[in-house]
Amino acid sequence: MVKQDDNLMKEIVALCKRRGLIYPGSEIYGGLANTWDYGPYGVLLKNNVKQAWWKEMVMKRSDIVGLDSGILMNPKVWEASGHVTSFTDPMVDCTKCHNRFKEDSVDQAIVINGKPGCPAGGEHELTPARQFNLMFQTHIGPVTDEESTAYLRPETAQGIFVNFKNVLDSTRVKLPFGIAQIGKAFRNEITPGNFTFRTLEFEQFELEYFVYPETADKFFADWADERLRWYVDLGLDSAKVHLKAHDKKDLAHYARAVTDIEYKFPFGWSELEGIANRGDYDLAQHAESSGENLDYTDDEGKKVKPYVIEPSGGVDRAVLAFLVDAYREEEVKPSFAKATEGPDEKRIVLRLDPRLAPIKAAVFPLVRKEPVMGKAKEIYENLKGKWFVEYDESGTVGKRYRRQDEIGTPYCITVDFEGLESEPQTVTIRDRDTMEQKRIVIDQVGEWLAGKIN
Ligand code: GAP
Repeated sequence: MVKQDDNLMKEIVALCKRRGLIYPGSEIYGGLANTWDYGPYGVLLKNNVKQAWWKEMVMKRSDIVGLDSGILMNPKVWEASGHVTSFTDPMVDCTKCHNRFKEDSVDQAIVINGKPGCPAGGEHELTPARQFNLMFQTHIGPVTDEESTAYLRPETAQGIFVNFKNVLDSTRVKLPFGIAQIGKAFRNEITPGNFTFRTLEFEQFELEYFVYPETADKFFADWADERLRWYVDLGLDSAKVHLKAHDKKDLAHYARAVTDIEYKFPFGWSELEGIANRGDYDLAQHAESSGENLDYTDDEGKKVKPYVIEPSGGVDRAVLAFLVDAYREEEVKPSFAKATEGPDEKRIVLRLDPRLAPIKAAVFPLVRKEPVMGKAKEIYENLKGKWFVEYDESGTVGKRYRRQDEIGTPYCITVDFEGLESEPQTVTIRDRDTMEQKRIVIDQVGEWLAGKIN
């Protein structure tokens, strides 16, 4: 059963904390709003999402190379990119309650007894809108003045544009080609929220794919399809993910066309990733500002100003979508109520794709007795260098299954006397989704798991 009610997000947030996926940031100090920390299982899940992206976008492609550029950059980068002047939201202040809102969301921003209103009573008294820049500022060196101002990057993309010439000069890339990067970005968001959906600090996976201008429309459409396919291939319900083109009037300052990939979160259809045709805006801006020639010279010696197609996604949003999509509350049918499953009738399970699951397999001794425990530890030792696996001997096997279900472990391997007495020796492997168990010869466990997971 897929739970649809309004409490779904609350239950996912609670599961994430209970099971070590995602914790509220700085919690022992009362927290810091809209910051989150990935726990021991969350970091594995997030790494798996990043690895899946890197494998698809860089490793499997001969036309795309990777990059890891700095978070701090010369402030001139952000002047040239337009972020200093245009990366803003119009804000209004209420002079009665002293809250600040995005101009277009003031109606939903403060709710009293379920209705819009000012906490100080009656209607808000709003100032005219002022532009508020979303970049976090810091200062380099001991003196805090205008000269020392620097910004935490609000997107990873600019690190790619400023290294365009370096990559051209140091590798053998030829148009069309891409530069891909995963990294942190920071935005002083005015209306963050919905768990990790919109936060102040987040990770992006961005590709800047440079093309001949006349081919830009085709690559724009191809990349939108390609990126949508990636999410569905990794398990998102295809009925809950779609492409949505932006109206021309809503485009960001740098874009000629944008299509979003949206996911149907419990709080509504929302952007997972944007695919933009940025034209030659960025290279032209940086060429003019830096004085460097950022043209591409083709094999005939002709100069080209490449256009760029940018699939730009949020790692944290992707993780959230995979979590939400995988979350199930299920009634355990009597036919599944094997003796080893215990008496529970309801289970929470994350039906994550095995490639994304934090832990690929858990190994249990059925009882805390030798030689069962020793053999279970031996199997665990053999598997642990190849995948993230766990050994667990605490509590009933039923409870151990439930724990692994809640973090999405696809397979639980149990060692029992029956299997050790057979020739050759066997274990049971229990499938997370069907809860069915099958017997596998111990020597074949690694190969069996590789076939299922890789
Ligand atoms: N370089 C283009 C760019 O940054 P964007 O639409 O502003 O475009 C790209 O951001 C992606 O980054 C979004 O689709 C979203 O997944 C993620 N993202 C943006 N702001 C975010 C925030 N405050 N919290 C979490 N993820 C965010």
